[in-house]
Amino acid sequence: MAGTADEVDWEALRTAATDVAARAYAPYSRFHVGAAGLADDGRLLVGCNVENAGYGVTLCAECGLVSQLHASGGGRLTHVVCVNGGGEVIMPCGRCRQLLHEAGGPEMLLLTPEGPLTMDEVLPQAFGPSDLD
Ligand code: THU
Repeated sequence: MAGTADEVDWEALRTAATDVAARAYAPYSRFHVGAAGLADDGRLLVGCNVENAGYGVTLCAECGLVSQLHASGGGRLTHVVCVNGGGEVIMPCGRCRQLLHEAGGPEMLLLTPEGPLTMDEVLPQAFGPSDLD
């Protein structure tokens, strides 16, 4: 699964995202989301959305993905795919673009409905760690 931007197996990543979307806990919206990503050491990481009766407490799938990145050893995300319950590629919400930008850096590749784009392209002029210096 690991590889450079050019040789990454996007379909395998999308399948992993679709598989984990089936495990989402989304009784309120009924909108399942799965996220799958590769870490810079080749680890495959996944996350699904987890809703709550306090609707605003909802955790997006990308939150689970980034949590698993750090919980399993850290590093940086290099490639990410987010899908709905039907396996269609969807764009991360604004908050999750911010989360992915920091976990992957501006050069991380996100599969979009238009193909792979960098985080810098999907979140231009991002606020980031260097702004705190
Ligand atoms: N959701 C995600 O998991 N990620 C996104 O980027 C967009 C939205 C979830 C949150 C909620 O459980 C459901 O999709 C509907 O908004």
